[in-house]
Amino acid sequence: MKQTVSIQGDAHTDLRHDSAIKHVTGSADYCDDIAEPIGTLHAYLGTSSVAHGRIKSIDLSKVKAADGVVGVLTVDDIPGVNDVSPTGRHDEPVFATDVVEFWGQPLFAVVAESRDIARRAVELAEVDYETLDHVTDAAAAMAAGYPHVTEPLRLERGDVAEGQKAEHRIKGQMRVGGQDHMYLEGHIAFAMPGEDDDVIVHCSTQHPSEAQHMVAHVLGVPSNAVVVNVRRMGGGFGGKESQMNLFCAVAAMAAKKWNRAVKIRPDRDQDMESTGKRHDFVVDYDVAFDNDGQIQAVEGQFAARCGWTSDLSGPVTDRALFHADNAYYYPHVRLTSRPMKTNTVSNTAFRGFGGPQGVIAAERMIEEIAYKLGKDPLEVRKSNFYGQTDRNVTPYHQTVEDNVMPRLVEELEETGQYQARRKAVLAHNAKGGIIRKGIALTPVKFGISFTATWYNQAGSLVHIYNDGSVMLNHGGTEMGQGLNTKVAQVVANAFQIDFDNIKITKTTTEKVPNTSATAASSGTDLNGMAALNACDQIKARLVDWAAGAWNVTPEEVQFLPNQVQVGAEVIAFADFIKQAYMARVQLWAAGFYKTPKIHWDREKGQGRPFYYYAYGAAMAEVSVDTLTGEYSVDRVDVLHDVGKSLNPILDKGQVEGAFVQGMGWLTTEELGWDDAGRLRTHAPSTYKIPLASDVPREFNVRLADWSENRELTIKRSKAVGEPPFMLPICVFEALGMAVASVNDYAECPRLDAPATPECVLMAIEGLSG
Ligand code: MTE
Ligand code: HPA
Ligand code: MOS
Repeated sequence: MKQTVSIQGDAHTDLRHDSAIKHVTGSADYCDDIAEPIGTLHAYLGTSSVAHGRIKSIDLSKVKAADGVVGVLTVDDIPGVNDVSPTGRHDEPVFATDVVEFWGQPLFAVVAESRDIARRAVELAEVDYETLDHVTDAAAAMAAGYPHVTEPLRLERGDVAEGQKAEHRIKGQMRVGGQDHMYLEGHIAFAMPGEDDDVIVHCSTQHPSEAQHMVAHVLGVPSNAVVVNVRRMGGGFGGKESQMNLFCAVAAMAAKKWNRAVKIRPDRDQDMESTGKRHDFVVDYDVAFDNDGQIQAVEGQFAARCGWTSDLSGPVTDRALFHADNAYYYPHVRLTSRPMKTNTVSNTAFRGFGGPQGVIAAERMIEEIAYKLGKDPLEVRKSNFYGQTDRNVTPYHQTVEDNVMPRLVEELEETGQYQARRKAVLAHNAKGGIIRKGIALTPVKFGISFTATWYNQAGSLVHIYNDGSVMLNHGGTEMGQGLNTKVAQVVANAFQIDFDNIKITKTTTEKVPNTSATAASSGTDLNGMAALNACDQIKARLVDWAAGAWNVTPEEVQFLPNQVQVGAEVIAFADFIKQAYMARVQLWAAGFYKTPKIHWDREKGQGRPFYYYAYGAAMAEVSVDTLTGEYSVDRVDVLHDVGKSLNPILDKGQVEGAFVQGMGWLTTEELGWDDAGRLRTHAPSTYKIPLASDVPREFNVRLADWSENRELTIKRSKAVGEPPFMLPICVFEALGMAVASVNDYAECPRLDAPATPECVLMAIEGLSG
């Protein structure tokens, strides 16, 4: 269905997601909707049933003999390298060889006439193990002397010992839970064999180029033999940044082996058991502060459950340290990461990418200070914010130059009537009833750019066909966030043509090579700029040609809404393009962009890893039943900074969605492993994501419409995908306040995340006095 709105002249317009109607009518094509060629086969993974063990034998004879089974793929069928690790550490075999390192690790794949046959046949495998000791969490891994999966990071500035001479010092520990992505569409890959070495893989990945390169490695062929296509994902949230490599490799191997199309799609249980999740952390903090509540020194150790391989755990735990300051200045600081190996599925990217785990630790320290000094936590927050001209250097030595936090918080405090409402909450609690209330206002500052500096590049390919219609390709992938809509808006704006004239295409490694994952919230920043660069090249050629042909100056060639003015003449865009074609003007271009200014020296822990920061603030009021621990989120007010928004309605959708997803992480979503190391929460029956009924009863979300990126980003906008995920920390802290009220705020409630009703109840029972 067409959107007839013309958006020429303004790239900052509310425009619904280009596929919105298709999403809700069910006509948007996902990978599983692609018509299957006759003879398509279906693969399914056979996985380990111990958390750690030596494989003594694998007998697949019954599997192979099952009706409808075409064959099996084992490690012996891998023509190239048995590895799909995204880091180059070569520590992630497609299929286990002699040792298995987590419950659910792929051992082999069955290929059959139908998915159901394949899924049942894997159960017929007979695998004999010698079981080995295992550890499932970071604390146990540290106690058992398990290794780090990757080099820890250390950030240091100032003289910590000096800062620790301050009047007060509190040491504590906080546990922060993991999270399953629970994308609506699970993992899926569909491979079609071609001639020679060729193979085309349709799949649901945020990182088509990496999937392409991985398939090539596993097949032992050059990357130019492999094409990876993604039209759209039914959600990724980081869970499809690296985890699709495995499925692509298996589908491609099977497709080449049997010369048939092969699809692989795990069911939800296998998707949850065998693919990575958000890292849970154990944070040890030591904060020193003065009588006014100003932080003098912070020491922190961030240990994460990384799972059996490195995957993205290095950059995830790095980002936790980069956000352990949140919005606060630490005069003296030392932070270390401990990316612990464990016998669990390898944890991976998830919205915020370690940042949320860092931010919540900063907020816990603030709460500790506030309770210790008997102050309103908001006052402590404000007095520790980064300064505008001094007190503005981060633990990684980047200077904060764009600090809009004081303004955001002041405005939200005012519009949300924080002071009056806090007074009312205190008065309510003073009556001592069963239902206690809490209120909190928390800030978020989030660094934008991949910390792997080389990832901050993007490409595009823009075609104008000679009828004036435009085809847009870029390296980013669409996962529901609206990236394609925003980039198409940029192109429509560049040529001053209607949005409907732009054809949004699938992402394919054939059109734009060596792309980065659509991640780190940078999709629009990078691909929007790359698309603009292509448009600018085409426009420059058109202007050059028209100026010559009409004998006018280049300034006299103007792109008007759906028309081009050349001197005194005004020509319809399509006619102008037709004439340019006849005059042999090249009507397409490849665009490129790389983020300026950024650099990072990981050894020294110094640099400017982030081009800029996105900011936000949120305020929540909650009610807690102190007899059961149950609670409700009564009201939330958000003020979020997206710079000059390219599309306010899409950005608001991102803020609302991220808020609710973050609330799930902090309140109801709990992962559990049993003693044998098996994940017991592997379906929605045992894992509780937020429902529509969990959305705050009153939910006021506003964008800071006065904000504009001081850096030269696409139309001065800011990234929006991940930063608002941390806004619901206000819900968590408000729950803490309600808990603390039971003991008249005498101590900081030691709530861990997720603050499920059980945890809230236990925190109440754990109060002294
Ligand atoms: N929004 C939707 N609807 N679905 C998603 O999978 N992923 C989030 C965020 N918003 C996601 C989403 C994550 S983890 C990131 S990094 C960004 O979108 C990626 O897209 P962007 O860079 O275009 O913002
Ligand atoms: N964010 C998200 N994904 C990533 C990053 C990052 O900083 N680095 C590598 N992959
Ligand atoms: Mo998002 S975690 O960077 O895919």
